[in-house]
Amino acid sequence: MPAIAEIEDLKRIYKRRVPKMFYDYVESGSWTEQTFRENISDYDLIRLRQRVAVDMTGRSVNSQMIGQDVAMPLALAPVGSTGMQHADGEILAAKAAEEFGVPYTLSTMSIASIEDVAANTSKPFWFQLYAMRDKDYIKRVIQRAKDAKCSALVVTLDLQILGQRHKDLKNGLTVPIKLAPHTVFDLATKWRWGLEMMQTKRRSFGNIVGHIDGISDMTSLSVWAAESFDPQLDWEQIKEIKRMWGGPMILKGILDADDAKMALNVGADAIIVSNHGGRQLDGALSSIRALAPILDAVGDKIEVHIDGGIRSGQDVLKAISMGAKGAYIGRAYIYGLGAMGQKGVAKALEIIHKELDTTMALCGEKSVQNLGRHNLLVPENFEGRWQD
Ligand code: GLV
Repeated sequence: MPAIAEIEDLKRIYKRRVPKMFYDYVESGSWTEQTFRENISDYDLIRLRQRVAVDMTGRSVNSQMIGQDVAMPLALAPVGSTGMQHADGEILAAKAAEEFGVPYTLSTMSIASIEDVAANTSKPFWFQLYAMRDKDYIKRVIQRAKDAKCSALVVTLDLQILGQRHKDLKNGLTVPIKLAPHTVFDLATKWRWGLEMMQTKRRSFGNIVGHIDGISDMTSLSVWAAESFDPQLDWEQIKEIKRMWGGPMILKGILDADDAKMALNVGADAIIVSNHGGRQLDGALSSIRALAPILDAVGDKIEVHIDGGIRSGQDVLKAISMGAKGAYIGRAYIYGLGAMGQKGVAKALEIIHKELDTTMALCGEKSVQNLGRHNLLVPENFEGRWQD
């Protein structure tokens, strides 16, 4: 196998190994995919300031996110159905994150359950919650996350209704699931993936099946999930979630300075500037463009994190230099997972860590805490400031 030097190399292997419908699920945005594309391409518009003859010994990219030590300012984002990308995917990703020393966030819509991931890891992970109509379910799942000693609750706010993803529709990854013939044919050709999936018991949504009456298979579950996101979610409910949880709460899906102020008011400990990887409101700002006005509004009072479009250590350095305290990768680690399981996630983390460290050195900095706007050239009008 040729050397794996960058995240794109993992993506190439991932594409060969994983059924197309799961590859497409990950590698897509909603509608025209403009926001999905710009999340990535807007990072390319920012230039790095090279400095020379600066002592670069004793560097460190160690940092903290919500007061927890991290080996670099990076966490693994929640990704639904991770266990469909590779058998036991959530457990493998959580283990790789734990070994590396970065947080892993388990999605509500994961295949392995909270308890299962907790039983197979030894350090606390973060749990991502969707606000559901079923308030009793929310109460129970929060309790389960507490019992599993999860160390942060990440509440996703931008998915009260699902953005339409054309690739999923064409593949039949719909509600209810109705696989297109080409999808079934492709599944049969991914023999390694299939063999591994046959050897695991984890093949349905572990946080839901067995915890909600009447949900027994993927079809009843997909219908339940689609009907269950709460269209009435409001800031009062978020306060209630914080009260029930009682620990560190991170609000994910903030793209606007006014919403960031609301997040601060309801007692969030951190926010994630995010457009859900371009999977929700197509045409929305890329997350890196949305960052600066949000930092201006709340940056001195709350930790601001970012996700979307991060595929390299250079991207992490740009996000941190713009003022974020932490960045998240979703697709970048899923490529590694689908390509090579736990080793692949570890590889993705290694690649990004090395890129971040080397880039930081060439920018003349010895620690991520010293990174700032002085390291960047940001084009005029880059920042997404709305006219009121
Ligand atoms: C779920 O979070 C999705 O974007 O599919």
